[in-house]
Amino acid sequence: MSQNINLTEPIMIGPRVLCLTAVVWFWAATTPFIYAQGKSASKPFDLIEWNGGKLIYGVDYYPEHWDESQWEKDAAMMQAAGFNFVRLAEFAWVKMEPAEGKFDFTWLDRALKVLNAHGIKAVLGTPTASPPAWLYAKYPDIAAMDERGIRYRYGSRRNYCLHSPNFISATRRIVTAMAEHYKEHPGALGWQIDNELGNPQCYDSYCLSAFQRWCRAKYTTLDTLNKSWGTIFWGHTYHAWSEIPLTWNTLFNTHNPSLALDHRRFNSEAMRDYLKLQVDILRRIAPKQAITHNDMGMYNGVDYYQLNEPLDFVAWDNYPMFGEDYAHYFGPGLAHDLMRGSKNNQNFMVMEQEGGLPGWSTFRGRQAAPGLYRAWAFQALAHGADGVCYFRWRTSRFGTEQYWQGILDQDSFPNARYQSVSQTGKEFAQLADLLKGSKVVSSVALLVSPDSRWGFEIQPLVKDFNYNRQLGLYYAAFRRAGVNVDVVFPQSDFSGYKTIVAPSLFIVDKTLVEKLTNFVKAGGTLVLSYRSGVKDENNIVTDQTLPGPLAALAGIAIHDFDPHTNQQQEVADLEGERHPARVWFDILDLTSGEGKSRALATYANGYYAGKPAVSIHTNGKGHVLYVGTEFLKPNFYSKLVSWLDGKLAEFGYGSTRIGKKLVAEPPPEGVEVAMREKGEKEIYFLINYTENAQTVSMGRSLRNALTGNTEPAKVEIPMFDVKILMVP
Ligand code: GLA
Repeated sequence: MSQNINLTEPIMIGPRVLCLTAVVWFWAATTPFIYAQGKSASKPFDLIEWNGGKLIYGVDYYPEHWDESQWEKDAAMMQAAGFNFVRLAEFAWVKMEPAEGKFDFTWLDRALKVLNAHGIKAVLGTPTASPPAWLYAKYPDIAAMDERGIRYRYGSRRNYCLHSPNFISATRRIVTAMAEHYKEHPGALGWQIDNELGNPQCYDSYCLSAFQRWCRAKYTTLDTLNKSWGTIFWGHTYHAWSEIPLTWNTLFNTHNPSLALDHRRFNSEAMRDYLKLQVDILRRIAPKQAITHNDMGMYNGVDYYQLNEPLDFVAWDNYPMFGEDYAHYFGPGLAHDLMRGSKNNQNFMVMEQEGGLPGWSTFRGRQAAPGLYRAWAFQALAHGADGVCYFRWRTSRFGTEQYWQGILDQDSFPNARYQSVSQTGKEFAQLADLLKGSKVVSSVALLVSPDSRWGFEIQPLVKDFNYNRQLGLYYAAFRRAGVNVDVVFPQSDFSGYKTIVAPSLFIVDKTLVEKLTNFVKAGGTLVLSYRSGVKDENNIVTDQTLPGPLAALAGIAIHDFDPHTNQQQEVADLEGERHPARVWFDILDLTSGEGKSRALATYANGYYAGKPAVSIHTNGKGHVLYVGTEFLKPNFYSKLVSWLDGKLAEFGYGSTRIGKKLVAEPPPEGVEVAMREKGEKEIYFLINYTENAQTVSMGRSLRNALTGNTEPAKVEIPMFDVKILMVP
């Protein structure tokens, strides 16, 4: 389950956090089925080539849930809708290995045969997210243990221990058997590993020992560990590796923040290692098939930059209506861009695209208009997906997900969702040649720091702090101006961007500070926000004046700050407009740093009224803006974008740039504009998420890729509709 963001409220990560490095495996095929894996940064994996020249368009299908007599009807209906792809088997371990070491793939062979006969190929899920009951009965230690030391009982899914030798050997057995059976299957394009890796965190003795070994490998000596973690505090000094605890239950639920950060890194690496274990088996046995995993967008349990390194391409699960209003298309947009950024902007696919109303024990959200199922598929393409697969083909009649709608309901009636996705199927077929080889290119990037996100999770600053909300506020402002945005991680290449926004860059190491400094000195604009540069890589507060190692770069000093509780604070900008502010107020001192920065906005209330809240500093050929607070309304952020887009120069504050704007005027609210490039060709996606027709000013007439007609400079988009325009 992806967690998309609501731009005004903290993210609700309910009880359902449940289910839901830069090497590029490149394509070296001469036929769609021959893949040689190697390492290269020059040739990214081409999903359209992989799928035989077609955009991937499919559904997640569970043939084992339905009588075999239904399969042929299903496949025919899928083909009629334009589907050419299915994901199969990711929860069918018990059906493939009904008893230890006894395998039965006959049912899956038959299902594949029916689907393949209708032009539908498959990705097979390794079924490790849902181990069979017999495995738990025979090896109770495969179950994960919670922080109180209680093992989860059998039921649900994903409740396994990643360090249990019995679970690892069961994993090897089923993955090896599947790979051997399907390695040459012409209808099996590749593999999805497990399902939504991320939880649970396990606290048993296997994981405890593994964490202690991880610490020893990282720090070598206990003396180094004790200093790095500041364990003298409360006398938590360790004299033996075996004394090191996990972040299990303690009084007040508190832990050394340095230990807690390392524990999060350890858990994230454990997921990556588990994924890698499966990747290695598949690469050895089935080298012609491609490998992916279904990530969860904004989910923070794993560092996706690391997790996705061993994969051929990124896939992810996108549920835009999960607690969202459909007009909040920026949430899924940001998640798409983050997913693309997690593998250096290589094109990706959506493995689970919302295909109906979500719900487990209660329905969640409200019913989307049928047109939105088409709009979301095009939104994915607009953000660099080369394929979309809906979850799921038909709603289940039994089990936990009876309320989680598929495209079809239990009665298989070709409903409005089916009609909508069928239209999309025809259009996807039309667009494959145009989109093949095209990609998203952006001049603006948002820097996501997994360490900082974890650092804030461990010590959230104030109740109202929300890292993802800040990402969303800046992201949405650029998108409202009609600007493509990339997401970069600390390991990404920063060159090539005009602007990088790094909200609340709480935890920084020397390498990141150097990279950002080089970026600015070479002419880039860096936007930092409050509580940046506060901690080092050990989650320990700097002893330099804030913003610590970023102070010289930003040209400011922070000697005082004010967390928001119930005081009213406002910020007056250089144009005289006032903006209500929230969360945190860094009071900027422009005189005791290098003394070269200037205020762009000042606080309006309280004892620090008149003191700078937002600053700009020219450094080398570039600029650093520091935004010392967060704003309640989107207004300030839109203004910031217009400042960066030339206005600061007009006001005499130095030249900053944001790069290409895709529109002549900002699109109306509820309409998204994004672009892919292919050499000189520009492919624009205009998506109307509203119930009314809308007009977008493109400033020139463009050719409609679906109809072949020329659209006027002011393009009308009917409600819930999409236009794909191109130049030349
Ligand atoms: C996740 C899982 C799917 C399904 C859906 C709906 O995205 O990957 O298996 O459970 O949620 O709950």
